Amino acid sequence: MKNLQNQRVLIIGGSNGMGLATAQRLAALGAEVIIAGRNQARLDEALKHIDSKAGAYTADFSDEASLTRLFTRLGHVDHLIITASSSAAWGSIRDIDGAALAKAFEQKALGYWRAIRAALPHLRKDGSITLLSGAASRVAIAGTAGLAAVNGAITQMGQALAKELAPIRVNVVSPGLIDTPVYDDFSPEAKSGLFENITKGLHVGRAGTSEEVAQAIEFVVTNGFTAGALIDIDGGAR
Ligand SMILES: NC(=O)c1ccc[n+]([C@@H]2O[C@H](COP(=O)([O-])OP(=O)(O)OC[C@H]3O[C@@H](n4cnc5c(N)ncnc54)[C@H](OP(=O)(O)O)[C@@H]3O)[C@@H](O)[C@H]2O)c1
Repeated sequence: MKNLQNQRVLIIGGSNGMGLATAQRLAALGAEVIIAGRNQARLDEALKHIDSKAGAYTADFSDEASLTRLFTRLGHVDHLIITASSSAAWGSIRDIDGAALAKAFEQKALGYWRAIRAALPHLRKDGSITLLSGAASRVAIAGTAGLAAVNGAITQMGQALAKELAPIRVNVVSPGLIDTPVYDDFSPEAKSGLFENITKGLHVGRAGTSEEVAQAIEFVVTNGFTAGALIDIDGGAR
């Protein structure tokens, strides 16, 4: 197991949900955690919930200049974790036109791609990259083809990058339904309908928590023999 003392971890998407839970967990293990997201107020609020040595920078991974500024300010990074999300591809193919799907790729898959490219000159060779994909790309669920396409791109790029960027360890964590603030935009009825519908088919009969995903992210970051792995944290969705 790698010790996280004196290790700098950058979490793009660390101001909310699974990214924030990961920031809390890795900071508690002694890492210097930097969280990045677009909204300064959200970053400031998140920092209040993370132990000591944490820092925050605004950055938008859909904007290359913003990523370059982020890494120039940071200097070196030991571990890059990308948890930022996009909801643009939610819905059935009848509702998601080509422009909406392109936006979803732009917001999530290309954002991950740009962030990795910007990080490379700054990443330590014995460090790691952790990408978050999603269960829609791992199990056939009607109405999630757009999510499957976008998250499938991340799953597949992660596998190839693990080989291409070695010895930097690249791993993918694929969450199932996780109760994070991403569902705050839903009406209570829509959220409970969605959760009921999905969780009734799960072995564990409930949605996951951000902390359960953060535990898996900690594992791939700290286990030096884990590279090119794809870990499903999905309550048995597959
Ligand atoms: N929750 C689920 O059920 C679920 C299921 C399967 C897969 N996933 C995937 O798991 C990951 C984590 O999901 P989550 O629910 O924890 O997400 P979340 O609560 O929506 O948090 C997303 C984080 O990403 C940041 N972000 C969004 N767009 C960004 C951008 N363009 N540049 C930089 N930061 C950006 C957000 O901050 P700002 O808005 O301030 O930028 C926020 O900190 C995502 O990749 C998601 O697609 C989630």
